[in-house]
This record gives sequence, structure tokens and C-alpha cells, in this order.
Amino acid sequence: MTENTGPVVEDDETFDNSHVLDPAATQDSQETISAEIKDIHDSASGETQPRVNFPPYRSSLLRHPTKDMHHTDPETIELWSPAFGHRDVHTLESDLTVQGNGEPLGERMVVRGRVLDGDGRPVRNQLVEIWQANASGRYVHKRDQHPAPLDPNFTGVGRTITDDKGFYEFTTIKPAPYPWKNHHNAWRPAHIHFSLFGTDFTQRMITQMYFPGDPLFSLDPIYQSITDQKARDRLVATYDHNVSTHEWNTGYYWDIVLTGSNRTWMEGDTDAH
Ligand SMILES: [Fe+2]
Repeated sequence: MTENTGPVVEDDETFDNSHVLDPAATQDSQETISAEIKDIHDSASGETQPRVNFPPYRSSLLRHPTKDMHHTDPETIELWSPAFGHRDVHTLESDLTVQGNGEPLGERMVVRGRVLDGDGRPVRNQLVEIWQANASGRYVHKRDQHPAPLDPNFTGVGRTITDDKGFYEFTTIKPAPYPWKNHHNAWRPAHIHFSLFGTDFTQRMITQMYFPGDPLFSLDPIYQSITDQKARDRLVATYDHNVSTHEWNTGYYWDIVLTGSNRTWMEGDTDAH
């Protein structure tokens, strides 16, 4: 998806509608989608992870798993999987604004936070990868063909390793919302995709970070596929003036909790946007 020499991250952002159960579904109105979301939320309670079958998210109907997951023996996997160390990740890979010949356009921002386990302990030496749209809402991806400009100085991908206190930090450009074909006039709230690998590939987790106050939250069937408000809130970063720096960048803070009751929402196989 990119000519960047950094991480190769799987990204299935797509704007064709071949995966939609019924192509006519893309003509559904926002009112139809919002009413379906409300009905589901009204009958739900205490679910902190997204439903894999969430009909307002149209393509989840065909793509959600219908059988139990295949349980892999982690000890066998660990014999074969590559391991990541500090030498594999260059410090510049966490700065998405220095990957081109010039500076990318848009609002320069830093996002910082910690990766924590369910008891609040830092998770050290964790590979954290991100990918995102640019300041126009466009991904560097052949399947993203909606009419917004690419930025030759922005690939939208980066990675880093958490430090001894579990902190990660990325310098990037604030992504914009973008359209998708779930329904008529459907727009994703601005977000950054995060991937964490844990200690082996069987533990890979993918989630999304959002920005505070986004007016698209209530309309978005992916964000709303988590029926618990507090669990949704945990996906939203906080504006942090201590992360902002004078005349250079705005700052956001966002912790990722891997386990326990405050676990951050992690995507299943069905989520791609
Ligand atoms: Fe996305």
C-alpha cells in the first residue's frame, strides 16, 4: 500500500462495494442506519467489545465469523515467528512528518500514551504500528479512490516500540474524515488505526483512536458497534496541552489497555475501515 520503507501493515480500506451484501444497501439513508443503531443500543447492556454481526455496519453481515476461532498453539507459533527488537525499528519511523522530501500538509500533531495491562502495569518493548488517512481524508492505497488529494510527503504509516514505562509517541498529521459506501452519505469519524503485536503474532490486536468532539460519532456504525458508552469513550483521545508544543504541534493523549474490564476495543476480522 505504500512505498514507505517502514512497516508493512495490512490495510483493507476499500471504497468499492463488492463486499456489501446488497449493493442497493449503499442507498440506505443515514436515518435508516441511525434508527437501526438506536434499536440495537436500546436492547443492549454492558457489552464493551464490538458486535461482530452489527447490521448497520453493512459489510459485517457477510464478513463476520460464524464459527469459533481456530485456537493456535502459541508455543508452536513462537518457534516460527519473527521477533522484533529495538534494532529493527528506527526512531524516525515514529515521525510521519519526515518521511518525504518535504513536509506534509495539515495540522501537525503528537499522540502519546501508554500500553497497559489490565492491572495498569506498563507493557514494555511493545511494537506499536499506526496507519491513517492524510489531512484530506485520503489513504495511500490503490483501493482508496475517492476524490481527495494524496500528499506526496505523507504515507500515513509509522511504528515505534514502547519504552520502559510503556509509553509510545507518534508525530503525525491529524487525519480528516473520509466517505465510505456503507450507506448513502456515510462518513467515518477521523481516526488513527493502531496495531499491537504483543509477544507473538497470535496476539496481534488492532483498534482505532478517535478525536474528541467529533460530530460523526453518533452516525458511524463502526464506532457504534460497541454498545457500551464508556467502552466507546475509551477509544477517544484527550486533547493534552502538555503534549502540545510551542509553535510546533497540537497534542493528544491516549492509553491502550490490553486486558481486563477496561480493555480497549479490539477489532475482529470483520473490521477494515
Ligand atoms: Fe480507516
